[in-house]
Amino acid sequence: MALERTLSIIKPGAVRRNIIGQIISRFESSGLRIAAARMVRLDREQAERFYAVHRERPFYPELIAYMTEGPILVMVLEGEDAIVKNRAIMGSTDPQKATPGTIRFDLGKNTTRNTVHGSDAPETAAVEIAFFFKPDEICGRYA
Ligand code: CMP
Repeated sequence: MALERTLSIIKPGAVRRNIIGQIISRFESSGLRIAAARMVRLDREQAERFYAVHRERPFYPELIAYMTEGPILVMVLEGEDAIVKNRAIMGSTDPQKATPGTIRFDLGKNTTRNTVHGSDAPETAAVEIAFFFKPDEICGRYA
């Protein structure tokens, strides 16, 4: 087990539906802690840069349109095996393929409007956390 940090985003649809609290409570009840959090309204350039790895994918324009349609909540989650744990709590990218009880199965609408984003590996977690937070904005229990 490793003490890790991961980036979590509550996407615009979930912010608009006023379900931030129930999403955060799933992280907390699974043992993850919020080490940093901020509401952000991404502009097009920021969204394109954050999701640059998907630039050539057919869903990219729809993804950028969605992620810029309203405010998001960006968070650093911290805990034992936080990256894998967060992905298990979120469920599969496509809510229809996700396991019942996961955030995306219970609250997601479709593959684009899937409620939450989470880093997929330690390297991406470091890059994604640095995209939104300076080191002194992260108030975790370690480092
Ligand atoms: P997220 O975890 O934010 O990472 C990339 C996002 O692209 C993903 O969640 C989905 O919201 C969106 N997306 C849309 N279509 C697809 C697809 N076919 N495969 C992967 N991601 C997709």
